[in-house]
Amino acid sequence: MKEQKKIYFDYAATTPIDKKVFESMKPYLTDQFGNASSHHLFGQKAMSAVDKSRDSIAAFLGCLPKEVIFTSGATASNNLAIQGLVDSGQHIITSIIEHPSVSETCQAMEERGVAVTYANVDANGLVIIDEIKRAINDNTVLISIMYVNNEIGTIQPIKEIHQLISKVNDSRRQKIYFHVDASQAVNYCDMKIKTLGADLLSISAHKIYGPKGIGLLFKQEGVPLKPLQYGGHQEDAISPGTLNVAGIVGLGKAIELVKENNNKQIKSLANKLMKNVIELIPNSQLNGDLQKRIPSCLNFSFKGVEGENIFLLLDQAGIAVSTGAACASGSHEPSSVLLALGHSQELALSSIRITLGKINTESEVDYLISNLQIIIEKLRSGNHNI
Ligand SMILES: Cc1ncc(COP(=O)(O)O)c(C=O)c1O
Repeated sequence: MKEQKKIYFDYAATTPIDKKVFESMKPYLTDQFGNASSHHLFGQKAMSAVDKSRDSIAAFLGCLPKEVIFTSGATASNNLAIQGLVDSGQHIITSIIEHPSVSETCQAMEERGVAVTYANVDANGLVIIDEIKRAINDNTVLISIMYVNNEIGTIQPIKEIHQLISKVNDSRRQKIYFHVDASQAVNYCDMKIKTLGADLLSISAHKIYGPKGIGLLFKQEGVPLKPLQYGGHQEDAISPGTLNVAGIVGLGKAIELVKENNNKQIKSLANKLMKNVIELIPNSQLNGDLQKRIPSCLNFSFKGVEGENIFLLLDQAGIAVSTGAACASGSHEPSSVLLALGHSQELALSSIRITLGKINTESEVDYLISNLQIIIEKLRSGNHNI
């Protein structure tokens, strides 16, 4: 029997662990199993690996090692940044297209007496800076904006927002802190803290060919963050709990390998895919900004066809894509991100997200293009079988 093809185009949901990352982690899952907080030799070996990883991450971000706080991933980092900083009576500004780990945390904060402004985006998915500017008031303590959107891949104007915040901060007593969820940006964007101007920044390892369940929050020295959990005093008591040594080593290695990513190859494959889809499939469109985007993330709408059906038929052909964010797919609700761009419910429901990674090949892209053509033609003619 012919083996079923398995082709992965969902790298924004998660990435496979790079073999070099896996090799770097192995000793800390077996022989070097010590608790990094223990003072004996086993513990010291573990802590020395943690320190090494923290140092190389700090070098990558251009920050101090003590400003790197390990967490269980970007969801934990985002929650810590928001809930750990803001109190009742204060005000947060965020965008309307944030990942749920930011938007739902903000909604929960509203129930605790925190005011939240959700700034709109333009038709290309770029946050409207003027809306942020107008929303700032005396109680504003935090502005949280994602670096790259996980559904449409648009790169937000982080540096411009930083410039606005530092100008405002010049003339006020209550400093406004800037949090950036950079989960989808690390592989493609400038990550130097100095240029970004972030006070807090979230990263997740499993988006960059590292392991799941580990991430970090950059916290600039002096940012008054309170812990959400209490226990041991790991990570300056801000993120307590036994350190995930193997995960931390894997995150450090994954970050070290970012510079080796072949983004040129991803860009050229994505361009081929985009060009072919738009040219060969009538009534198709790319969502998001054409220029201000990471190359790997392509979100298409196909008028008159349900994204969920395209997803299912591609899956049957062995091709994994997504109808939106992994955590929301299968919900049968239109994507709130696409609605925020001004799409109708119908158009928003006719979308799929294709995200490429460093393992994809040209023949996989060709296979995807031909399957997409066939599937959409069939669905448009009322035939739901492949
Ligand atoms: C933009 C963004 N923020 C946060 C997260 C959550 O990351 P994690 O899975 O590490 O909790 C994701 C993952 O989908 C994401 O894409």
